[in-house]
Amino acid sequence: MSFHEKIEKNVGLLIVLTMVVVSIGGIVEIVPLYFQKTTTEPVAGLTPYSAVELSGRDIYVREGCYNCHSQMIRPFRAETERYGHYSVAGEFVYDRPFQWGSKRTGPDLARVGGRYSDAWHRVHLINPRDVVPESIMPGYPWLADTAVDARHIRKKMEVLRTLGAPYTDEDIDRAPMALEGKTELDVLIAYLQRLGTVIRSR
Ligand code: HEC
Repeated sequence: MSFHEKIEKNVGLLIVLTMVVVSIGGIVEIVPLYFQKTTTEPVAGLTPYSAVELSGRDIYVREGCYNCHSQMIRPFRAETERYGHYSVAGEFVYDRPFQWGSKRTGPDLARVGGRYSDAWHRVHLINPRDVVPESIMPGYPWLADTAVDARHIRKKMEVLRTLGAPYTDEDIDRAPMALEGKTELDVLIAYLQRLGTVIRSR
């Protein structure tokens, strides 16, 4: 019986050897990413989210905006013509968890920062049909009436700091003050306005 035949007739051996082969492929692809600067270091000019932006990001996650919006522009002409420079890993080093996604019921938001005014976002998020008549996006009117919850902001920033976000003690001390008097809508808009603004291509 040839060696090949032995493997094919022994399911256990076949499984083990298959796993060895597949894991070599995995190791070759994944391990270098941990050591390459382009994937581990922030792009020039990137700062961690401010207390306000970070709170807005939490609203984005809570409301499930990622169910319809991706935040990753792929390096294809059709994408870069529409959205701007393709996304690079170094833009997301402070995103925990990242919001890349792949579901695009609505447009990609990776570079939506600065594309519209705050006032546009305010109207759009309360009732999208007021600015885009054919929109199927749901409205989020309660965000405008709900004060942002500042109870956990310091703790959140402290935890992110242990994971590498370069917050100073002062940033953290000032965080609750920065959220004073802000609604959930205010902070969500601040978050949207900063998305993708570190790399600009148009
Ligand atoms: C059911 C799917 C759906 C959900 C959920 C959703 N959106 Fe949308 N969104 C859309 C669609 C469709 C459009 C395009 C039409 C429009 O502009 O309203 C859009 C457009 C947008 C735009 C304008 C993008 C551009 O480049 O023109 C922004 C900003 C946006 N959404 C933010 C959000 C935020 C923030 C949330 C969560 C609070 C959210 N969306 C939830 C479907 C969705």
